[in-house]
Amino acid sequence: MESLRSIWYAPDDPIALRFTAMQITQDQVGRNDQIVQLFRDIFAASEGADEGALIHALSRDLLTTTPMDDLSVFTAEDTDTLCGCAIFTRLRFANDPRVAFLLSPMAVATEHQGKGVGQKLLTHALNALRDEGVQVAVTYGDPNFYSRVGFAPVSTHTVPAPQPLNMPHGWIAQSLTEAPLSPLSGPSTCAPALNNPEFW
Ligand SMILES: CC(C)(COP(=O)(O)OP(=O)(O)OC[C@H]1O[C@@H](n2cnc3c(N)ncnc32)[C@H](O)[C@@H]1OP(=O)(O)O)[C@@H](O)C(=O)NCCC(=O)NCCS
Repeated sequence: MESLRSIWYAPDDPIALRFTAMQITQDQVGRNDQIVQLFRDIFAASEGADEGALIHALSRDLLTTTPMDDLSVFTAEDTDTLCGCAIFTRLRFANDPRVAFLLSPMAVATEHQGKGVGQKLLTHALNALRDEGVQVAVTYGDPNFYSRVGFAPVSTHTVPAPQPLNMPHGWIAQSLTEAPLSPLSGPSTCAPALNNPEFW
C-alpha cells in the first residue's frame, strides 16, 4: 500500500514491557517467502499440517495476486526475527463509498504468543490504516481475541460478507472513524485469493 514505515516500541509501554524489542513494519516487499513460511509454521503448530498448508497457500496468493493498492501488510520483528504478521486486503461494497479493509490471516509465532505481540501489532496496524483513510476494519475470527483491539460482532445485514459464513459469530468489525458503524450497502467483494468458500 505504501513505502516502508516502521516503529520501535519502547519498554515503558505496558504491553511492550512483556516484549521489549518489538519492531513493527508496514512493508512486505522482498519478504514474501519469510512471511508465508511463518504462516505455515504457526498454523501447522496450532491446527495441524493441512491447515498450515492451506494458510501458506492463502498468504502466498494474497501477497502475489492482490493489487498493491488493495493490500496492506504489517509485520512484527524481535531483534530481526519475524515473529508476527497481519495481512489486510480491501473489501469493496458495491453501493457504498466507504473504504474498508479485511484482516485475514494474522498470526504470531508460537513461541511469542501470549506476550502482547498480537494486540500491539493490530493496534499499530489499525492506527496506520485509520491515518491512511480506511474507515472500516473487518475480520473473521475469535471475538474473544479481536475484541481486545476494538472489533465487535456484526450481522451480515450491517456488513455484507463476500461468501456465506460457516461461523457467523466470528464476523466482526469496527469503525475507524468517530462515527459508529452503520450498515454498509453491498454486495461485497474481497481479494480474489480470499474469494473461496473454503475460507468462510
Ligand atoms: C491469535 C493470535 C494471533 C494472538 O496473538 P498473541 O500475540 O498470542 O495474543 P496477545 O498476547 O496479544 O493476547 C493474548 C490474549 O488474547 C487471548 N487469546 C490469544 N489467542 C486467542 C484465541 N485464538 N482466541 C481467544 N483468545 C485468544 C489470550 O487468552 C490472552 O489473554 P490474556 O492476556 O488474558 O491471557 C496468536 O495466538 C496466533 O497466531 N494463534 C495461532 C494462529 C491464529 O489462530 N490466528 C488467528 C486466526 S487468523
